[in-house]
Amino acid sequence: MTPLEIYDIPGDKSISHRAIIIGALTSGVTTFNGFLCSEDCLNTLKIFRQLGVKIELKGTQVQVHGTGVTGLKSPSEILDVGNSGTGIRLIAGALSGSQISATLTGDHSIQKRPMGRILEPLLKMGASITANDNVPPLNVQGSKLKANVSYKMPIASAQVKSAVLLAACASEIPVTVIEPELCRDHTERMLRLFGATVQTESGQIKLVQPRLTAPLNEVQIPSDISSALFFICLTLMKNRNVIFKNIGLNESRIGCLAVLEQMGVDLSVKQFLHQYEPMGDIHIHPSSKRKNIEIPEDIIPNVIDELPILSMLALTQPGTLKVRGAEELRVKESDRIAGICRLATALGADVVEYRDGFDITAPEKPASEIKFDAHYDHRLAMSALIITKAFNIKAEITGLESISTSFPNFSALLEQLF
Ligand code: S3P
Repeated sequence: MTPLEIYDIPGDKSISHRAIIIGALTSGVTTFNGFLCSEDCLNTLKIFRQLGVKIELKGTQVQVHGTGVTGLKSPSEILDVGNSGTGIRLIAGALSGSQISATLTGDHSIQKRPMGRILEPLLKMGASITANDNVPPLNVQGSKLKANVSYKMPIASAQVKSAVLLAACASEIPVTVIEPELCRDHTERMLRLFGATVQTESGQIKLVQPRLTAPLNEVQIPSDISSALFFICLTLMKNRNVIFKNIGLNESRIGCLAVLEQMGVDLSVKQFLHQYEPMGDIHIHPSSKRKNIEIPEDIIPNVIDELPILSMLALTQPGTLKVRGAEELRVKESDRIAGICRLATALGADVVEYRDGFDITAPEKPASEIKFDAHYDHRLAMSALIITKAFNIKAEITGLESISTSFPNFSALLEQLF
């Protein structure tokens, strides 16, 4: 019998950003445990310090001394989110509804990412926010926004939904967002934990009571399921028997587990905590009869960040992985459809690229060595490291520095565990 191993994965990136932003908009001190100390989240933390919020970081515990919505100060310098799309879109939302002015920008990749998707609802709410050609830098002149706007999102985006909800919180006004498909609801959950009233029914998210109060208890940030999946896939590729501890099991994030089960993976999940986010352990049992599937289009928003590594898992099992309806991948940290197809092709797979997805069939015999440029995209870089480790092939991968934006101890864990 394969011996059982237990792995700890760092904190959830989406929830860590929200911890800083929502903690800052609340008056009172909130302690969060399990904060992700990656470059993206540390940039959000630094930005709120520049806005006058005292934030103490000890290990992975972060204490946010919120100033309340009226206590933020206009910064003297340009605010730099680094590589983070979540950072820029959520902070731009929050600042639009505040009473301060600021300019937000980020690295080379951020300066190409579409911001029209947040400008449209924020302008509808009466915000003063501008961008050149809908890309950063964003200039925000905070003001009291219009109450009771209802905005139907044309795309399923948690970042857009959150920008709107945070803008409304900063202006202390009600708002409604309608989402076309379920997308991650970490903002709604954390706002409720902070005393706001958010009602959700058939895709309608209504922020009814926007005032925030710091919770009495410390808040636990679960481990990131998107990060865990890199090691879950390597566990499967190497046929190991592993428990991943304290993972966030939010329904809007666990689509990857349903995909794995449809692929024939033997896994069990034990949920043990539900403070505001469900959390528990995922046990991956050695699973020998895996196969590729067509991922249902309606769960694409739920697995969007996991598609790069799921595509690499596809190279280790029979059949064809079919992905459609995933055009959003083209505007992530890099064009991930192109990146996944380039990587799979270099590894010897049979690949067909579509505008909104791809078909990938495992190679009969993988390439013996590859060169791959991850275009400074953390998820492509980690996917390339996992698959080349699994195939045990020589690899020259550039752009690995990007990994520290989301998973700073990735390479150390990879060395230590495999
Ligand atoms: C995120 C939402 C997703 C996801 C991103 C993090 C968030 O983007 O891809 O990595 O924290 O809200 P969209 O929902 O905006 O596509």
